[in-house]
Amino acid sequence: MIRHFISLKYFSSDEIWKLVALAADIKKNPETYEDLLKYKTVGLIFEKPSLRTKTAFFVGTEQLGGSAIYYGPDEIRLGQREKTSDVAQTLSCFLDAIVLRTFAHNNILELAQSASIPVINALSDFLHPSQVLADILTIKEKKNDIKKLKVVYLGDGNNVCNSLIYCFSILGGNLVIATPKRYRPQKEILEEVKLYCRISGATITITESAQEAAQDADVLYTDVWTSMGKEKERTRRRRIFRHYQINEKILSYAKRDCMVLHCLPAHRGEEITDSVIDGKNSFVFTQAENRLYAAKAILVYVLKSVPNTPVTGNKEEKQK
Ligand code: CP
Ligand code: NVA
Repeated sequence: MIRHFISLKYFSSDEIWKLVALAADIKKNPETYEDLLKYKTVGLIFEKPSLRTKTAFFVGTEQLGGSAIYYGPDEIRLGQREKTSDVAQTLSCFLDAIVLRTFAHNNILELAQSASIPVINALSDFLHPSQVLADILTIKEKKNDIKKLKVVYLGDGNNVCNSLIYCFSILGGNLVIATPKRYRPQKEILEEVKLYCRISGATITITESAQEAAQDADVLYTDVWTSMGKEKERTRRRRIFRHYQINEKILSYAKRDCMVLHCLPAHRGEEITDSVIDGKNSFVFTQAENRLYAAKAILVYVLKSVPNTPVTGNKEEKQK
């Protein structure tokens, strides 16, 4: 069976924790994994800009002993230069895995449907699961039991927010999302995760009040207000989202040891101030570094089986 990495919703809590444990082990003992992808070639198709994700998958592949080929936005042009299913079948003859960053999430599903090799979601308009895997590793490194945390996401109900919803609804914990009304996550996704929440005990709360959300937060997380592809809306969005900025005032409502996260790139002065992103509560560059270990864990997962690494989840997770 081909193992794709498209959405965290296809993973159980145990499987997510195993991936996080694998990423943590790769971070600690990189030499153990040096030759794992020997003779493997990974294609990186990026239809949008990227600094962290491209670098993490490129460097990650090479550090695991494989090689990577990068295709920029003007090269393959999925569904325009040729049918996505033809691209999938052709690349399956040459490569061992495909990492895709694209606009429409459907492109990832279509590619995976016709490929006979694993497909990894490197961000679509709908989801950003490799980011959220790194986020869980970052939170887990500093905070103990994820199920007891209040994790607050402020800003746009976008791809990062959607992957956080899937992840926390499966793992448990309390995710509070503060967005302007029109920019809430879609109703369908909130309906879909109700069952996951019942199983895991997670709570997902949606509010319009950033101040109320930030109260006693263990983690404050934000992302850009204007995602890639929405640049024309930037001026309007800056106005609509202005009350959702992570600044000193919002941070003062959170717990003293609150961890501030941002997937980056940051639009400093919009969704986050310089003083917060450069301040003592910020872990954004650890979070960025952890993208590498998460990417390597995903590559190992899709190309090899997940080695029996210790599960670093909380006690209940270990007992499952
Ligand atoms: N966070 C993230 O995915 O960054 P890039 O867009 O630079 O890859
Ligand atoms: N929501 C952002 C994430 C960037 C990593 C975007 O899609 O542009």
